[in-house]
Amino acid sequence: MARKLIVGNWKMNGTLVSNTRLLREIRDDSTIQASQIDAAVCVPFLHVPEAQVILMDSALRLGVQDISAFRDGAFTGEISADMAGEFGVQYAVVGHSERRIYHGETPKTVGEKALRAIEAGITPVVCVGETQQERESGCARETVEIQLVAALDSLTTDQARGLVLAYEPVWAIGTGRSASAQQAQEMHGFLREVLRSRAESLASVTILYGGSVKPSTAAELFAQDDIDGALVGGASLEAAQFLDIVHLAASPAVAPM
Ligand code: 13P
Repeated sequence: MARKLIVGNWKMNGTLVSNTRLLREIRDDSTIQASQIDAAVCVPFLHVPEAQVILMDSALRLGVQDISAFRDGAFTGEISADMAGEFGVQYAVVGHSERRIYHGETPKTVGEKALRAIEAGITPVVCVGETQQERESGCARETVEIQLVAALDSLTTDQARGLVLAYEPVWAIGTGRSASAQQAQEMHGFLREVLRSRAESLASVTILYGGSVKPSTAAELFAQDDIDGALVGGASLEAAQFLDIVHLAASPAVAPM
């Protein structure tokens, strides 16, 4: 099994003071310091400059939760991938369901955001996932395939090799109701086949699971063949919980080097 990637998504939480403290606590973990795991935290944009300083020379990587679909210009309130890159940002979540639902982001917009990130040397974490209704009506696979294919259509195969995919079923986000390890594995296996059908080299793209990941559910998720790590929301807001998840992912029993 390959090395795992754990990404925290802090969403719109915390203050500069509390997030600074949280970031230091996560940064100072010995597993992270020893680079035994790939880990990143996606902080609110305004906290990026402070986070860059705190993470200087640290193995913990810096991410943001969105970026503009445009390079530059008259787009009031937007932050470009190049601007994020200037602050040492290495990951950008794009197409999170909260952006798709509350900000009307389309699969095509998400693809453009992924491309902007890659052009700026930032790894896009492209989120896909079905709603409860889509799952109940039997079109979960079709939904995530449309979302993934739209992102891939914006990228060359070479560019697509640099993305991270995150399967986040909307019904599992912030609900305390994680997908079961079997449900998640089934969808991850499907997503990997969609990637492989594009190009054999895309079969090795990292696929994270997100949606109510907790220390109590992480080990079983990480034991699945096609789950390469996690995108963690609520549990990334407490250092102890996030680090428990990091340690489970780094454990040799789960992920031999
Ligand atoms: P929760 O872990 O709070 O369910 O959030 C998941 C998520 O949306 C991460 O991007």
